[in-house]
Amino acid sequence: MRICMIGTGYVGLVTGCGLAEFGMKVTCVDKVTEKIAMLKRGEIPIYEPGLKDLVEKNVKEGRLSFSTDIPEAIRNNLVVFLAVGTPSDDGGGADLRYLFDAVDEIARNLNGYKVIAIKSTVPVGTAKRVSRRIAGRVEGAAFDVVSNPEFLREGSAVEDFLHPDRVVIGTESEQAIAIMKDIYSPLYLIETPFVITNNETAEMIKYAANTFLAAKISYINEVANICELVGADVHVVARAMGLDGRISRKFLHPGPGFGGSCFPKDTRALYHLAREKGYDPALIGSVIRVNENQKTRMVEKVKRRVGGDLSGKVIGVLGVSFKPNTDDIRESPAIFVIQRLLDAGAKVQAFDPAALGEARKVFGDAITYAANAYEVAQGADAIVLMTEWNQFRSLDLQELKGRMKTPVFVDTRNVYDPRKMEQAGFAYEGVGR
Ligand SMILES: NC(=O)c1ccc[n+]([C@@H]2O[C@H](COP(=O)([O-])OP(=O)(O)OC[C@H]3O[C@@H](n4cnc5c(N)ncnc54)[C@H](O)[C@@H]3O)[C@@H](O)[C@H]2O)c1
Repeated sequence: MRICMIGTGYVGLVTGCGLAEFGMKVTCVDKVTEKIAMLKRGEIPIYEPGLKDLVEKNVKEGRLSFSTDIPEAIRNNLVVFLAVGTPSDDGGGADLRYLFDAVDEIARNLNGYKVIAIKSTVPVGTAKRVSRRIAGRVEGAAFDVVSNPEFLREGSAVEDFLHPDRVVIGTESEQAIAIMKDIYSPLYLIETPFVITNNETAEMIKYAANTFLAAKISYINEVANICELVGADVHVVARAMGLDGRISRKFLHPGPGFGGSCFPKDTRALYHLAREKGYDPALIGSVIRVNENQKTRMVEKVKRRVGGDLSGKVIGVLGVSFKPNTDDIRESPAIFVIQRLLDAGAKVQAFDPAALGEARKVFGDAITYAANAYEVAQGADAIVLMTEWNQFRSLDLQELKGRMKTPVFVDTRNVYDPRKMEQAGFAYEGVGR
């Protein structure tokens, strides 16, 4: 089976490479020529564990290639996947401009029956809009649009793609279902559940799943905030809650609020979609509001701990990416916190094992980029740990303290034990305990 993947970002590259690993012949295309040039040189434009080896292997075995010739790749392949970005627009809905650009390119190059598989996260109704758009441009066009949302997590994307919890295929075309089942046939062997449904349901599954996970995070963050007021320890609360099989322990970690390229924009998009249809999604609205407040609370914690005025204070920030094992900083709480610290007149020095290059694109010379965690501590009035990279889990506390002006440690991920931190001489504050 021959596949064209339009959009070679976090999802397109992993998916394209994963499908090649399943035995498909895949051409990954992107409109950013530099990205494709890097890939052709064997360089990986993103930080994603395990991806480089898998790309190398599949290129070497002749199943994976990269191109900027999008028209040719569309014409030469039976199945065209769409994995372009769908960021928030100004009103909080999903901006589908990249998707429709790619769809128009497909329409211009439709040279026979094709399956158009939408991997991008798109609002309910988009697959039908795509169908109407192509049919309106190409007379007698033969194609099917399949909604095939992706659930991989950055940081463990390769593993998630190769061993997913489920595969969702949304289409009413028997022919397209057969082709999609064929593509994912290696997953049948490992008994992966397949959910085959219509386009709208498949599109809704993705938003409902992401919004539910975001809701779990906002919920435990709210519980954490109440714990702070009543002297309870949110970690013990979350653990005991999670032991209940109906609840599960996952996504019950309090922190600085959710970020990343999916949860914030997808919760906003579902909220926006519901309101557009005349329904007020009160719970989803609260999930978003709690998250916004949580990020601000982290800044307030730092401010309080340095005496109420951030102006002129040196703040060391550990971690910039929205979670460990990625260089993705899209809507990272760390970016929000750094910006607020700067706005309040603080000097920021930051370190991240993978995301400093991305941070530099946002902050330029406005902050200092440290070479390691200890440099972050140099002369600092406070440290704020924003991302729980493994590298930050067992820092030499005495060395850290020795370099700081005042030993204040705000731990937004609750990596450290409050008692041990106090014994080590830190004024320590976590979240919810
Ligand atoms: N990142 C994740 O963890 C994740 C997980 C599941 C689903 N998703 C969804 O997958 C989609 C892609 O996300 P991403 O994180 O990979 O985005 P990304 O920004 O990393 O990649 C998108 C790529 O598409 C390219 N592109 C845009 N328009 C194009 C066009 N017309 N022709 C060719 N290339 C084009 C861009 O240059 C970019 O390289 C989004 O809808 C997202 O919500 C993301």
